[in-house]
Amino acid sequence: MAGSPDDTHFGYETVPLNEKQDRVDDVFHSVARRYDLMNDLMSAGLHRAWKDALVTAVNPPKHDAPFALLDLAGGTGDVALRVAEAGGASTRVTVCDINADMLAVGAERALERRLADRVTFERGNAEALPYPDRSFDCVTIAFGIRNVPRIDRALAEAYRVLKLGGHFLCLEFSSVDVPGLEAIYDYYSFHIIPRIGQAVAGDRAAYQYLVESIRKFPKPKAFARMIEQAGFRRVTFTPMTGGVVALHSGWKL
Ligand SMILES: C[S@@+](CC[C@H](N)C(=O)[O-])C[C@H]1O[C@@H](n2cnc3c(N)ncnc32)[C@H](O)[C@@H]1O
Repeated sequence: MAGSPDDTHFGYETVPLNEKQDRVDDVFHSVARRYDLMNDLMSAGLHRAWKDALVTAVNPPKHDAPFALLDLAGGTGDVALRVAEAGGASTRVTVCDINADMLAVGAERALERRLADRVTFERGNAEALPYPDRSFDCVTIAFGIRNVPRIDRALAEAYRVLKLGGHFLCLEFSSVDVPGLEAIYDYYSFHIIPRIGQAVAGDRAAYQYLVESIRKFPKPKAFARMIEQAGFRRVTFTPMTGGVVALHSGWKL
């Protein structure tokens, strides 16, 4: 953990809590236009399967029943567009992200996919959401919570804006738990990913931050406890791909 309560991590660096957000914002301003391509290259397309598992867990109604999803730190809308496509005509998705460049890419994608009437893109901070209490049926956050400086505040906000009976789902990088895979994963993370970041997105540091921030994120059981501390019940998690990622789930009951 970072030493002082006013400090946190930016990758392996210890930084003041109020500096982390600016550093994270710089990362995503820099990579926004290449973000989706990088995801495919770095994960060899696996992020699609992980996001499909998230969409299955969201389980938007296929018939014309109203369903409101908030996709926090939703960036270029990858999860939001998948949920909108999986759901019926009354499935509405709000993508909330702090970074205008990521949102701009997402809004263009929604227009291209003819989903702009059901998927909206709004700028907001996950730590202080611009929505009333009990507004959404489901809140998702994919590969986002690790970047938020005060995770406990973001979890409390997710809880606040969910309706009673609402579902919280968090997809995030986790801890590899398969003997043998760890060494390969570490080599790939520290030697290959930053090089792909340099070659494709022109930003090695952004992808060095990615691999370091993954190592600093709490282990899945500890993160499940944080979700419970925010008030969620029936908290569970499912590791995928040998623990490379985990899907955490909790309910507002
Ligand atoms: C790795 S991207 C994930 C994007 C998308 N969810 C996906 O899975 O493709 C992380 C996103 O978190 C956003 N983010 C970082 N801090 C945030 C905050 N405090 N509030 C809202 N979004 C934030 C970034 O701007 C970025 O778009």
